[in-house]
Amino acid sequence: MAHTASLPPTILVIVGAAGDLTRRKLIPALYNLHLDRQLPDRFAIIGVARRPLEDDAFRQSLREGVASFSRRGIADEAVWRTFAEGVSYLSEDVLSPASGLALSSRLAAIEKDWGVRANRIHYLAVPPQMMEPSAAMLQRLGVCRDCAHDRLVVEKPFGRDLESARALNRFLGELFVESQIYRIDHYLGKETVQNILAFRFANSLFEPIWNRRYIDQVQITVAETVGVEERGDYYDRAGALRDMVQNHLLQLLCLVAMEPPISFDADDIRNKKVDVLRAIRPFHPDAIHRVAVRGQYRRGTVLGRDVRGYREEAKVAPDSTTETFAAFTFHIDNWRWQGVPFYLRTGKRLPAKVSEINVLFHEPPHQFFPSAAVESWQPNRIVIRIQPEEGIGTRIQVKQPGTRMLLGTAEMRFRYHEAFRTPAPEAYETLLLDVIRGDATLFMRSDQIECAWQVVTPILEAWDSVPAAGFSEYAAGTWGPESADLMVARQRHSWLQPSVAPE
Ligand code: BG6
Repeated sequence: MAHTASLPPTILVIVGAAGDLTRRKLIPALYNLHLDRQLPDRFAIIGVARRPLEDDAFRQSLREGVASFSRRGIADEAVWRTFAEGVSYLSEDVLSPASGLALSSRLAAIEKDWGVRANRIHYLAVPPQMMEPSAAMLQRLGVCRDCAHDRLVVEKPFGRDLESARALNRFLGELFVESQIYRIDHYLGKETVQNILAFRFANSLFEPIWNRRYIDQVQITVAETVGVEERGDYYDRAGALRDMVQNHLLQLLCLVAMEPPISFDADDIRNKKVDVLRAIRPFHPDAIHRVAVRGQYRRGTVLGRDVRGYREEAKVAPDSTTETFAAFTFHIDNWRWQGVPFYLRTGKRLPAKVSEINVLFHEPPHQFFPSAAVESWQPNRIVIRIQPEEGIGTRIQVKQPGTRMLLGTAEMRFRYHEAFRTPAPEAYETLLLDVIRGDATLFMRSDQIECAWQVVTPILEAWDSVPAAGFSEYAAGTWGPESADLMVARQRHSWLQPSVAPE
């Protein structure tokens, strides 16, 4: 692979390379970086998995993945060939005591050829139970021993509760130093998620009103139309709380609620996020049913198509009580946010694929317009749209045209694709390039992961102890169970349904 960027020679080892993540996300992202000439001049990829496979067959399966899942496809045959030349495959069973030797000599051979000690990135794209044996193999062989040059990337899920996440952190901490470990949450690589920092802290317009004095409530919705697809075995053991809330939704909450960091340094930003997680009011086991709601989809119609219920999905237990929808009321106990509810919800088989944050403002303290003028009055609101139609909108009240004073609602909006004509990179493009550069800002530090688990573990425990109580079904294609509406209605609020264009 040949490039203009002046990044150090790098070898990326993907452990678990036969899995879907490699074909669907990692290789399409790396190939797009290659198309844009953003990879290092000398860059090699080694796919490692148990099943025996020839290099060519591996490359062919990656090619199909790029053709099907990349926003740009193969784009240019000659460019694909230069990319594929740097890709090879190794069959290793990480559970075998002899594992890793072939990897170690492949790394040495590439470096001998290049005449340098390369930066080595080891990406663990393996199921949770294989995380420890894979990391131990790397350590045993010393392939990841140089703290300045060697990095370890760990995919989610990182643990399944506080205790297992702590154990995994301890385990990794004995083998590697923290600055070597990059824990992925792909939401942090999304352009609009990063834009929350720019929106809040690069404008002096919004920060003065970003607090309890002006803000009434915050709603975060991450909705998906898909079901569990081919991941029934993983999902049925995870559920929406572990799969989406502990990581993606809590990260969004942190970005909306954090204090301004003192610098753009990775740790300064991560410290402020940890402060938010630590300030989240703990859930009291007796009150959990009032602030945490779960549901599971039954049959229904999504985007005009009849779909089966969760319990009928492949590799899902027919009596499963795993939640496919979860909604919560969070409170953040600090000066800025005291008394402001943060409502979070996420679910599969909802009517639209949409992720957005709604920030709703208080009513003006004194309403002097005649009552007829304010009949259709609505509070100000800022909508941060993460996907699709990435952008930011502001709802304001204006005078309706005419001879009488009547108020109406108007929208001021910024859309990424209208403002900037260049397409945004995929989350994995940003994240992989950051690992190559050694920038950990968009990755989770060990204490962040543990704080996030600390927040959700009481809910997991409460739900596990009474699997069926308070468990509501919802028809696929609706906005989740009624109990989620009741939860916010207790505070005289209601969910704002995102406006969505058909998919
Ligand atoms: C993953 C979850 O982390 O995020 C999936 O495991 C989910 O269940 C996916 O579908 C959603 O990501 P995105 O980028 O499509 O919003």
